[in-house]
Amino acid sequence: MDRKQAQLRMEELRGEIQRHNQLYYQKSLPEISDQLYDQLDQELQDLETAWPELRLEDSPTTQVGSDRDENFPSAIHSAPMLSLQNSYDLTEVEAFDQRMRRGLGQNRVTYTVEPKMDGVAVAARYRDGQFVMALTRGDGRQGDVITENVATFPEVPLELPENWRDLFPNKDVNEFEIRGEAYLTLSRFAQLNEERRLAEQPELANPRNATAGTLKTLDTNEVRRRRLSIFFYQIFPLVDGMRAEEKPSPENVGSDLFSSPPQTSSEFPDHQSEMAALISLGFKTNPFLRVASEPLELAQHLQDLEALRADLDYQIDGAVIKVDNRQAQMRLKSTSKAPRWGLAFKFAAEEALTTLKGVTLQVGRTGVITPVAELEPVLLAGSTVSRATLHNWDEMGRKDIRPGDQVVVVKGGDIIPKIIQVRLDLRSGDNVPLAEPTVCPICSAPVSRDEQASALRCRNLFCPAVVAGRLRHFVSRDACDIEGLGGQSLDSFLELGLVNSPADLFRLKRETLATLPGWGDKSSDRVLTGVTQASLRPWESKVFALGMPQVGITTARTLAQEFPSIQALQEATKSELAALPDVGATVAGQISDYLKSPGGSALVADLISVGFLLEKETESLTLDEAAEENWFFERVVVITGTLESMGRSEAKKAMEALGAKVTGSITGKTQVLIAGEKAGSKLTKAEKLGIEILDEKAFLHRLEEARQDSGQGQASS
Ligand code: IVH
Repeated sequence: MDRKQAQLRMEELRGEIQRHNQLYYQKSLPEISDQLYDQLDQELQDLETAWPELRLEDSPTTQVGSDRDENFPSAIHSAPMLSLQNSYDLTEVEAFDQRMRRGLGQNRVTYTVEPKMDGVAVAARYRDGQFVMALTRGDGRQGDVITENVATFPEVPLELPENWRDLFPNKDVNEFEIRGEAYLTLSRFAQLNEERRLAEQPELANPRNATAGTLKTLDTNEVRRRRLSIFFYQIFPLVDGMRAEEKPSPENVGSDLFSSPPQTSSEFPDHQSEMAALISLGFKTNPFLRVASEPLELAQHLQDLEALRADLDYQIDGAVIKVDNRQAQMRLKSTSKAPRWGLAFKFAAEEALTTLKGVTLQVGRTGVITPVAELEPVLLAGSTVSRATLHNWDEMGRKDIRPGDQVVVVKGGDIIPKIIQVRLDLRSGDNVPLAEPTVCPICSAPVSRDEQASALRCRNLFCPAVVAGRLRHFVSRDACDIEGLGGQSLDSFLELGLVNSPADLFRLKRETLATLPGWGDKSSDRVLTGVTQASLRPWESKVFALGMPQVGITTARTLAQEFPSIQALQEATKSELAALPDVGATVAGQISDYLKSPGGSALVADLISVGFLLEKETESLTLDEAAEENWFFERVVVITGTLESMGRSEAKKAMEALGAKVTGSITGKTQVLIAGEKAGSKLTKAEKLGIEILDEKAFLHRLEEARQDSGQGQASS
């Protein structure tokens, strides 16, 4: 390669790397694997070594990619947030071990090994024991301020037990920083996507992408609802907002603080004790921390972690190896991109090559037709995969997916895998693209294109698939939550023609149910009680139950807050709807059209005709009405921490409706403390004062009982 060629290739590589940085850090939707990315980076590094004069100051080889987002204020990090050098096989790990031993002049180095979470880095600060700020990595030097969003994490305590000071004997330290990786558990991710599927909203691409998106969401309620998790892996004291040992001292005045940061803290002799300190303060750390003092052991741990991968409820993409001793870390220092004392060992990507046998079509509750890939069964990340989602017809066209093709499938953490690539190089000449369907695969009615949502739709209101989908949605958990009507029983009702619409559920009669084969009193009762209780569901759940296109539970909540009745909602103009948070013009149009459509208005009228109230529930009983014999009556209660099942204000309202006096702080008069997750000093104080403490489970139990006693319970209303 001559100079000219090198220059061209370097330009090309810089452009490509920057594009992939954008895809990974800004969009969280990488197009290539980390390994391929590292190959590009390595190629550029090699060229920069060979042609140092062609190297640019701001080459991507010397910088970490940036997730900065102009919608957020930013702040400078107390110390740079770096990346880690990647490795893909054991020889690279051996080379790392040799580098460490050479660098430290030791025969033997002790390492820690822990899972490398595939999430998003977050830094959080505590001042005087209170959570005060959280930042994203940003460009490593400066991150976006995401304090309010991180405050919603169930695993981030907002206030710490008093003993936090014991960790930092230095009296000047009144602030410290912790860093960790935020992530969505696979189960929560699958749940969220299930909800989105029901609401016919675009699904979240993968847990990492969803985590990054959630951290940058402006609606904190939505962030709370997503329930992000976090594992912390670093803690260090700050003095005046800066990492303690980076504070300018006579020795380091004049040195560039950001060029070679220690990335370590002297408070803890080794990484193991750093993790122990995090645990002692109640922060969650990954439980699979291992220690290795020789290469064989190291290799064994890496292998064990890779084997563990399939059993975890979160994605890991490798293991992180760290020199355990902190003095040693400080001596090894860091480059501008990564500390020298750490190495990421990346596992092989969980992808598999298989044949696309054909494409089947699924029809959803609003008639949207989704293509599903039928695959030659293949083993992928511990389970056999035979179907994959194809999202919509446009996507099939974009990827040029044809039956008979060899395709690469990945598991994005969701239960349903997806096709990320068609191996065009392996395509035989006679694979032809699938024609776009012109009729519904279920009812043969003509289909039409829904340009806005790039979807094909069956417009037949009586299409059996649409009827079934609508009913399934209506009874689902976040909608009417009708127990006893899960899957099979509903299917058999449909088959027998007992129900064709949600309103038909309210017309079910005990006599009819009792004659069904296999149905006894008990199962009939369950369904009938469930149906009766559906009328008592909160207004927002009813709005969701209507199954309007693009309306998930969050949008339903917004609509319910804004419009107290179906009449108000039906009368809303498109622009009124579009002005609501997270609705927008497209969704507003779809909601309005749906409510005016023959199907939508018939559904509403039909529900009203069977007595299903479509309006905001009347306020809870007044105090005088609350029977005095319930447990909460006149009890003085304080709530602390976060409750999983409801917000604090909701809990307060519920107890007040029962006659409790809910106050903000613990005094001699307090009788009960409701302690949710992350309860802090109030819990300690209550314990000291011998106040009765209810955890969430006990609280819910008491609440249920008290409601029954006061006549507010569902059984008696
Ligand atoms: S230690 C200087 N430990 O991976 C960075 N990082 O590729 C020290 N990560 O920025 C980081 N799991 O966002 C560390 N157990 C773990 C990790 C971990 C995931 C992330 C973190 C880091 C990135 C580097």
